Amino acid sequence: RPATPAPAAARGGGRPTSFHAMWDELRPVGRHADSGGYRRFAWTGADADCRAWFRAQAESRGLAYEVDRNGNQWAWLGDPLAGDAVVTGSHLDSVPDGGAFDGPLGVVSSFAALDELRARGAALTRPLAITNFGDEEGARFGLACVGSRLAAGQLTKEKAYELRDADGTTLPQAMERAGYDPQAIGADPERLARIGAFVELHVEQGRALDLSGDRVGIASAIWPHGRWRFDFHGEANHAGTTRLVDRRDPMLTYAETVLAARREAALAGAVATFGKISVEPNGVNAIPSLVRGWLDSRAADQATLDTVVTAVEKAAREQAEREGVSLDVVRESFTPVVEFEHALRDELNRILGGAVPVLGTGAGHDAGILSAAVPTAMLFVRNPTGVSHSPREFAAEDDCVAGVLALADVLEGLACR
Ligand code: GLV
Ligand code: MN
Ligand code: MN
Ligand code: MN
Repeated sequence: RPATPAPAAARGGGRPTSFHAMWDELRPVGRHADSGGYRRFAWTGADADCRAWFRAQAESRGLAYEVDRNGNQWAWLGDPLAGDAVVTGSHLDSVPDGGAFDGPLGVVSSFAALDELRARGAALTRPLAITNFGDEEGARFGLACVGSRLAAGQLTKEKAYELRDADGTTLPQAMERAGYDPQAIGADPERLARIGAFVELHVEQGRALDLSGDRVGIASAIWPHGRWRFDFHGEANHAGTTRLVDRRDPMLTYAETVLAARREAALAGAVATFGKISVEPNGVNAIPSLVRGWLDSRAADQATLDTVVTAVEKAAREQAEREGVSLDVVRESFTPVVEFEHALRDELNRILGGAVPVLGTGAGHDAGILSAAVPTAMLFVRNPTGVSHSPREFAAEDDCVAGVLALADVLEGLACR
């Protein structure tokens, strides 16, 4: 966990930046007292508090604040309509009981980097914007990167309207209750066309930088990844009176499928995770009628990912057949491999002095979605725990400051040329 706050000037190796004050202000928002993790789900109260914080940061700096048709927030320095803008930012929402850094580190660092540019007296020749993309983690509606996918036209309004949370609330209902107009959501090509470069700073979600001894890295690519829903239908019955041979127990099939996923992923050098499950009727003394499990699988290339998912589904079907269980598999989302633009990546490397490690990642990001439409790059900040999507996710204060300064260098290098 971050240490007790100290005066800003005493931190970051004595280098004053505005990072710490913002970080301390945002830190309590949406933090669950018992788990210590964050529950900042799209269009909830905690999300609204994060959004209010973003708006206040924009307005206190005299930046032009706007919300786009998909609920993404923007703060502009310079003319938003001029084109060829340099944009930075990330997201403020979280996974269930997530860490403090995944998302917010990028947004807070963006404001701190802008302050740094102003302190340097940098003369910008391109408009600069900071953004907070809505619902990046997909914790509430099951689909990740909703805000950027809508903007990029990778999610249609019709499909977005079908998204529902666990309580049956639809995405448009949730947006409306949060005070946003869901009627206007959809592709936003004019907005994306005004962006000349997008750079997302993010906490590293592994230990590569820790192992190489670097504070900051540059992203090379994002693995293709997707989410598949496995519905195992069996027969509800009494846990005490139903003979084992008479059971059609979907939990058993589900369990075999989890083992198959581990086995196939290990064989292929991929990853596969069942991290979410729902059970009906969910009684201790009842054999379930339905077990619904969500598979998240990722691999360095598409062919490997296809092999893993096909093999897991095949194993699940064979097991289901043996146990009298029926199975439906639905692909809920898929993001193809992203190779970040080489020219922009090289430019970042040059701006940062040429010796910055270049890393791939298995995590999804709004930058990955935008990269289909806009030259896009990412900076990673060292995470000594290597842990993410957990309260143990961490970055040291000096490394956060190094990230801010690297981002400031990048924005200056791109926007002042
Ligand atoms: C989001 O961080 C994801 O990669 O699932
Ligand atoms: Mn995440
Ligand atoms: Mn993230
Ligand atoms: Mn992510």
